[in-house]
Amino acid sequence: MKAIILAGGSGERFWPLSTSKKPKQFLKIFSEKSLIRETFERLQFKLSPEDIFVVTGEKYKEQTIKELPEIPEKNVILEPIAKNTAPACFLGTLVADENEVVFILPADHYIPDKEKFWKTVGLAVKAAEEYNGLITLGIMPTRPETGYGYIESGELLEDKVMKVSSFKEKPDFNTAVEYLKKGNYFWNSGMFIWKKSVFIKEMELNHHKTFEVLKDVNPYNIDEIKEKYPKLEKISIDYALMEKSKNVYTVKAEFEWSDVGNWVSVREMEGYSDNKDNVYLVNSKNVFVKSNKNVGIVGLENIIVIDTENGLLISKETEINKIRDIVKQLKEKDR
Ligand code: GDD
Ligand code: MG
Repeated sequence: MKAIILAGGSGERFWPLSTSKKPKQFLKIFSEKSLIRETFERLQFKLSPEDIFVVTGEKYKEQTIKELPEIPEKNVILEPIAKNTAPACFLGTLVADENEVVFILPADHYIPDKEKFWKTVGLAVKAAEEYNGLITLGIMPTRPETGYGYIESGELLEDKVMKVSSFKEKPDFNTAVEYLKKGNYFWNSGMFIWKKSVFIKEMELNHHKTFEVLKDVNPYNIDEIKEKYPKLEKISIDYALMEKSKNVYTVKAEFEWSDVGNWVSVREMEGYSDNKDNVYLVNSKNVFVKSNKNVGIVGLENIIVIDTENGLLISKETEINKIRDIVKQLKEKDR
């Protein structure tokens, strides 16, 4: 089995801690280790470093090698430009042998329990071998989140393993509310397990454009990749393949999981800062503060304050996703 860490995101949601030079996977959010390091160690629990690969942007090569010195340098597969996850999954999957199982996973999730994680992954690997399908790991949803993909589960095949009836990437809010009510929908964790041969066939069927460009590429040859990549459509694996394929299964995940999507998800895990030593509140509550300074807040509630060398963010919790507009404005100024 080969594990492929996808680590090419641009990291806009954690400004001012993250920048395009230092995207989310390199941030130390929950411990002294970066998220990509945590992901690697979760894999190393069962796999040898030779079987762990990273697909990332060329500009992140040095940082990736520094974070993961154990893996052979050739296992860091480089993209000249970001084309989203469908091409990245394709390149990563190409490193495996024809009928070998590939485990694709994001670089930047929070999963504290390695044992429970591997229990579910073990079931998924078995399912990939048995059913020759695309296996997803389904998370029990707790709110109508519109930032995730939704997996509609169908027939129960064995304990925790189900055929998938449909897959909907990032539905609108009303649809998400409906899915939650129906009860047979899971969140897509963004992790996938498949045999190389099955994946390639499914891409040929469902996203022929990506298949055509990448089918014969040597994933270790950066010059070949540089020639092919500009021809690719920018599209995520969820839209390119998971929504279209009829050959999708899901394994119910038993582990605690968060995709650490923005500052509010960090606040949910760490709690409010109202009682922190350096935080002084007047007529205020429910604030989340990261700063080395004394911070005084008057007359505000549900506020996020992030103070780093790069900048100072002050945001209402409910509008946190608009950080992207700040990053956009900064980029325009940089030009
Ligand atoms: N190599 C590479 N190249 N990696 C990429 C690229 C790229 O162009 N774009 C994104 N990635 C990496 C990110 O760094 C991250 O680790 C992973 O691929 C997923 O990308 P996101 O951009 O974070 O996706 P998302 O969170 O919006 O949605 C996906 O994950 C959700 C769960 O967290 C989807 O799979 C959803 O369906 C899912 O619910
Ligand atoms: Mg994500």
